[in-house]
Amino acid sequence: MIDPRLIKGTSINRALDSKTSRRSVLKLTAAGSGLVVASRYLTASVAAQVPPLEEKDTYTVGFAQTGSNNPWRLAETKSMKDEADKRGYTLVQTDANEDTAKQIADVDSLIAQGVDILIFPPRESQALAPSVMKAKAAGIPVILIDRDVDHEIAKPGEDYGAFVGSDFVDQGRRAAEWLAEATGGEAKIIELEGTTGADPAIDRKKGFDDYIAGTFKGTPTPEGAFSGMEIIASQTGDFVRDTGREVMQTLLQAHPEVTAVYAHNDEMAIGAIAALQEAGRKPGEDIIVVSIDGENAALDAILDGTLGASVESSPFFGPIAFETMDKYIAGEDLPDWIKVEDRFFDKSNAAEFQGKQF
Ligand code: AHR
Repeated sequence: MIDPRLIKGTSINRALDSKTSRRSVLKLTAAGSGLVVASRYLTASVAAQVPPLEEKDTYTVGFAQTGSNNPWRLAETKSMKDEADKRGYTLVQTDANEDTAKQIADVDSLIAQGVDILIFPPRESQALAPSVMKAKAAGIPVILIDRDVDHEIAKPGEDYGAFVGSDFVDQGRRAAEWLAEATGGEAKIIELEGTTGADPAIDRKKGFDDYIAGTFKGTPTPEGAFSGMEIIASQTGDFVRDTGREVMQTLLQAHPEVTAVYAHNDEMAIGAIAALQEAGRKPGEDIIVVSIDGENAALDAILDGTLGASVESSPFFGPIAFETMDKYIAGEDLPDWIKVEDRFFDKSNAAEFQGKQF
């Protein structure tokens, strides 16, 4: 069964973004079984273009993780391992220690070992795309989870089976929408970006920045531009708590007028909150903070009032990744993008989920 935390919502009415228009999109219903598919977006048979995967009793799955330096990564790894164990499959796991060159080498090594399939999150979207092509050339199927690669270099449905993951642009939009409401549309914002070149960092920035500017996925928003909301500084904190804290310390000195922080993940938000407190500022009162992920520590921070809200980005990929692999083996038509629906946490519901996330 698909983890219900991954499959909230069924709406297919949201406008398709530029990514979506190049991709087929499938969303999972709350029941986890019904597949809501816009059939006109379906690609040709998976088997026709990507390496086939024969039906066997068990499989060796290569899982090249980007790192293990935050709760989100640990939860994702555990979810993959739990599902592989449940099925009696062998998960050959590598850890790139958040080093893109190492992840490329890890994928090379998994290809050389002759795993049956690769299921992994590419740390950077351009840098890891050639690794997908290498796997294809070696006859090893690939399913990407959590992060996608650049489609100019490797195409879903042609070069790899599918991308399974969240709508990062929409996550950015949701953070911006909440912040606009919370600040009455008046804010001087510091943006802490994720890893440079990573799919979620690129798209979370786009969704947030575009919404503030009055567009979303290329279409003018009904709300229009928020002329009172200004991004006064935007810098990477690499999705890391300590880096988020250090970057916030530096940016705070340069921009003491800041009234809001948008962090691309909870870890950086928590680091930024610490930096603000150390500087005698009052996160949650004079500076409103919003972020993404929905980890347990973020729910705690929402409840203690220092963090305003967190858009969920679920790390529980094990069940959905292996179900996608089942479909691949069966030669089913896979949509290019199997979209994970995420929830939203703020003070109205944080207590309900406290301690139940990761
Ligand atoms: O790719 C998902 C992002 O990667 C998560 O938001 C972040 O916490 C992680 O490192």
